[in-house]
Amino acid sequence: MCGIVGAVAQRNIVPVLVEGLRRLEYRGYDSCGVAVLSNGEPRRARSVERVADLDAQVRETHLSGMTGIAHTRWATHGAPVTDNAHPIFSRDTVALVHNGIIENYETLREMLKGKGYEFVSQTDTEVIAHLIHSMYRGDLFQTVRDAVRQLHGAYAIAVIHKDQPHTVVGARQGSPLVVGVGQGENFLASDALALAGSTDHFAFLEEGDVVEIGLDGVKIVDREGLPAEREVRVVTAYGGAVELGPYRHFMQKEIFEQPRAITDTIPQADHFDPALFGAGAGDVFAGIDSLLILACGTSYYSGLTAKYWLESIAKIPTQVEIASEYRYRESVPNPKALVVVISQSGETADTLAALKHAQSLGHKHTLAVCNVATSAMVRQTEFAFLTHAGTEIGVASTKAFTTQLVGLFVLAVTLAKMRGHVNAKQEAAYFGQLRHLPAALNSVLALEPQIIAWSEEFARKENALFLGRGLHYPIALEGALKLKEISYIHAEAYPAGELKHGPLALVTEAMPVVTVAPNDTLLEKLKSNMQEVRARGGELYVFADADTRIVSEDGIHVIRMPEHYGPLSPILHVVPLQLLAYHTACARGTDVDKPRNLAKSVTVE
Ligand code: G6P
Repeated sequence: MCGIVGAVAQRNIVPVLVEGLRRLEYRGYDSCGVAVLSNGEPRRARSVERVADLDAQVRETHLSGMTGIAHTRWATHGAPVTDNAHPIFSRDTVALVHNGIIENYETLREMLKGKGYEFVSQTDTEVIAHLIHSMYRGDLFQTVRDAVRQLHGAYAIAVIHKDQPHTVVGARQGSPLVVGVGQGENFLASDALALAGSTDHFAFLEEGDVVEIGLDGVKIVDREGLPAEREVRVVTAYGGAVELGPYRHFMQKEIFEQPRAITDTIPQADHFDPALFGAGAGDVFAGIDSLLILACGTSYYSGLTAKYWLESIAKIPTQVEIASEYRYRESVPNPKALVVVISQSGETADTLAALKHAQSLGHKHTLAVCNVATSAMVRQTEFAFLTHAGTEIGVASTKAFTTQLVGLFVLAVTLAKMRGHVNAKQEAAYFGQLRHLPAALNSVLALEPQIIAWSEEFARKENALFLGRGLHYPIALEGALKLKEISYIHAEAYPAGELKHGPLALVTEAMPVVTVAPNDTLLEKLKSNMQEVRARGGELYVFADADTRIVSEDGIHVIRMPEHYGPLSPILHVVPLQLLAYHTACARGTDVDKPRNLAKSVTVE
């Protein structure tokens, strides 16, 4: 989603700003721009194409300056046209970039029009630029502190003013913003990844902070306007993370990184211990009576999978909710529930708001399962389990999902052990299975050539159904989501037993039906559901465990998975579905890593 980069230096910072945007491209955007103070005047370049086009423009026009801001925009208010692209100017004096949504922009716009300001964009952002211009009395830092008090909604902003040549001012409320600390130069960005290569020293701003960066220093005030110190941490994890290597797309690279990502995520110690979730987790976990899981998108499906583990292994009641629903409905809080937020980025606006909503209702105990140690969610929760997937660039989540599943499985067995449902022998067996998982995944990845053959068939279809049962129903949901996100084929997933209650009406010879067929206790039921499809002429594409003895025959295509992998089987079964979506999208020629209309990190509602 939208990205911000800002810099103050004693060198031309346009290349740093453009490189920062390039590093944020994976988040999804539909226009981009950069503005610098050049001989005391704000000058800008904007593009509704890619960052590469913006780069060409700045080279052609020799845009250069030592103070500047840049932005990738994902349109919310106003179409993705040049006039709406950031940086937004006010009277050629103030230049501003903004992530988030200003909810009271209409009132502010009327007020500013009354003062003679002319609006040239359809954005909510333009009111902030004019507001700052109208309030400026010689001190940009103070002006921004005063101006943001009038804003309702979510924002991260970075602003420059023509009269303050070595200053960028930023502010955050509901959208992330970090300060990159350099030597004789300083930076701002919506994500530390944007500044990899420029600095590895970061200070993470808190909600309500306003910051001024200059050549030699950084000043921060908190939401009360009081001077604030934010710890400067060294974050090196981002170096080299955006290299594609031998792969065609980041998504493919990330699918193949899963054995490594899972190895890094499995706890070092050979036992399941509440301390893995943070100091004091043992006492808290001993007192909880249920779990409430909140998440969005793919992370929601990892929560749905975890529910099966938590209820069957740990025998603990578990509710899983889509964050954007939970945050706005009246629910019955249970202070003895552990609230678990699952998020790759740790910044998804709906999940973060759902967490805060749960806390406001009196939920004291919270845990984040997250891939970014410095994210807002990790900072907002009592406990955290960090997945070590590494930076995920492809918009469609893959390695983040499977590492989340590892974290959630560790949680389920830890709770089961604490509640006396797992003995030492079972614990060792579960650990053994976790340790063997990367090798098992490698054998699934080796199925890629067979999956490529199927993908050529799928590329010609416009619809697909995915079936799964029990623990593998969320995997069918995830498979359908992957296919629709990147190949734009309409796909739906059903628990196979529900087929006859509606979707069977859609089944004809034109409808491929992907079936997740592990050799578990529901296999015979699933085989009956497959017959229901065959009887209507539907074509079945089955991922079957080797020991199921399901064989290819007329209308039934089978790819043979390894033997059944017990409760961790969903982690194996999702991989061929990721590959099927990936190769189908490649065959259809879509922009796999940046599918249309989607963003990697959804930091607005
Ligand atoms: C976006 C991404 C999805 C992701 C979802 C939740 O929609 O495109 O891949 O699953 O956000 O993101 P999170 O970072 O909270 O896991």
